[in-house]
Amino acid sequence: MLLLGDIFPNFSANTTEGKIDFHEWLGDSWGILFSHPSDFTPVCTTELAKVIKLLPEFVKRNVKVVGLSCDSVASHIEWCKDIKSYAGCSVQELFPYPIVEDKDRNIANKLGMIDKDELDTAGIPLTARAVYVVDPNKKFRLSLLYPATTGRNFDEILRIIDSLQLTDKAKVATPANWKMGDDCMVLPTVQDDEVAKNFPQGVTVVPLPSGKNYLRKTTCPKV
Ligand code: BEZ
Repeated sequence: MLLLGDIFPNFSANTTEGKIDFHEWLGDSWGILFSHPSDFTPVCTTELAKVIKLLPEFVKRNVKVVGLSCDSVASHIEWCKDIKSYAGCSVQELFPYPIVEDKDRNIANKLGMIDKDELDTAGIPLTARAVYVVDPNKKFRLSLLYPATTGRNFDEILRIIDSLQLTDKAKVATPANWKMGDDCMVLPTVQDDEVAKNFPQGVTVVPLPSGKNYLRKTTCPKV
C-alpha cells in the first residue's frame, strides 16, 4: 500500500507524447497523475477539458499534469479531438499535456486505482478517478480517490497544491475551506515562546471552552 511520504513508484509508459519514465518526466516539478476509467466517456471528457483550461494555473505553480486512461494511445489521440472541442480549443492546437496508455490496467493495478464496485460492460472493474500529487523529491504527498461516477473538482486540486506548497515553507496549516491569502493556523508543534520569532505579523489565540490555547491564527505568510 502506498503511504503519504513514500517515494512514489516509478513507471514507464506509452503516452500521447511518446514513452515516458515518470520520475524523469517530472524532473524538478511537482506532478499530478489523474486516472480515468476509459476513453470517450462523458465525465472524463469534462474533466480533461477542465484541466486544459486550468493548465496555466498548474504551470504557474510548477506542476506538471498527466492523465491516465485504460485505453491505447491511438484511442487517446482520437479522444483528444473531442476533449479539445469540448474545451473550446481549435483543432490545430496541440493537446497540452500527456495521457498515459494503460489498456491492460497494469499501472492502475500497481497504483491501487481500481474501483471493484464499478464494472464496465464486460463486467471488469473500472479504474477509479484517482488523483496523486507528487512533490519535486518524488514523494507521494496526497491522494484523492473518487468512484467512476463522480467527477472531480480541479479547482480543489489547485487549492491543495497551494496549501502543500505554502505549508512546506511556513510553519502553518490551512484550515477548513481555506484559499490562498486567507488566515492560517500556527502549527501545533510551534511552542508559544517561538511564536513571536516565527510570526512577526502577529498571532491571535481564539478562546475556546477547554481553555487550551491551541487555535492560533495568523495572516497568510508570504513565501
Ligand atoms: C464517465 O466518464 O462518464 C464515466 C465512466 C465510467 C463510468 C461512469 C461514468
